[in-house]
Amino acid sequence: MTDSLLQIADHDAVRVITVNRPDKLNALNAATLDALHAAFDAAADDPEVRALVLTGAGAKAFVAGADIAEMSGLTPVQGRDFSLRGQRMMRRVEKMPKPVIAMINGFALGGGLELAMCCHLRVAADTAKLGQPEINLGLVPGFGGTQRLLRLAGRAAVLELCLTGTPIDAARAQQLGLVNRVVAAADLEAETMQLAAQLASAAPLALRGILDCVNTGGECGIEEGLEYESAQFGLVFSTDDMREGTQAFLERRKPEFRGR
Ligand code: COA
Repeated sequence: MTDSLLQIADHDAVRVITVNRPDKLNALNAATLDALHAAFDAAADDPEVRALVLTGAGAKAFVAGADIAEMSGLTPVQGRDFSLRGQRMMRRVEKMPKPVIAMINGFALGGGLELAMCCHLRVAADTAKLGQPEINLGLVPGFGGTQRLLRLAGRAAVLELCLTGTPIDAARAQQLGLVNRVVAAADLEAETMQLAAQLASAAPLALRGILDCVNTGGECGIEEGLEYESAQFGLVFSTDDMREGTQAFLERRKPEFRGR
């Protein structure tokens, strides 16, 4: 399925969503933010989809940021609304009940890095450049960059990236814990799709439980987080997949998970 702003393709149970504005390095304007939000809503509701990959069209960019041309004329109130629009979409991605991998095929700058950071895993080409260059435009990151970068990579890294605006390469991003894997650009798609296929064959309700534990537990104290984990642990005992997984281990065969 293709519309003008996104390309959406299913490879078995893996849905690949591609931001499709390569002539603008896939910059996020309001319409693209809305299209992404709708695409993730649809993927969340589709039982055939068990893992997602998010990437950008063309060889040059994942996403080079929020659309500077569109932002340049906004009033303060419109600016706040634009920020909220992006934040809501990215929160939707972060709270997806199925794993989402950012396949970072080039520039991930500003809103692009923010988009990558709301995904659950990040695989980057060794040629990718990541950064929060908003300061160079007299701006503050507005799609969650100060908050997610702080949580992912710590205070020193968020302050360095946001205060200097200078992009870093993929190897440094991995050192900072910002990306999970760095692979040769030529192998990016194959490696990412292999990881996505692995996730798509895992037990969907247990994946969802893990995502819930990390999202919810990460936002509260250790006592509440552990409590929440125990509740999720108990809950999966109600699933066929848990019986299948443990039985398959005991019978020395490969489990087949159905999401029930
Ligand atoms: N918003 C809107 N348009 C953007 C964009 C953005 N964030 N990033 C790139 N583009 C557009 C350019 O305006 C250009 O459009 P044009 O051909 O109609 O003039 C096109 O994409 C190609 O970009 P260009 O700058 O010519 O490519 P480059 O290879 O010389 O430079 C970058 C690549 C990524 C270094 C450069 O485009 C850039 O700095 N982009 C902005 C990054 C940024 O500040 N992001 C944070 C925004 S809050």
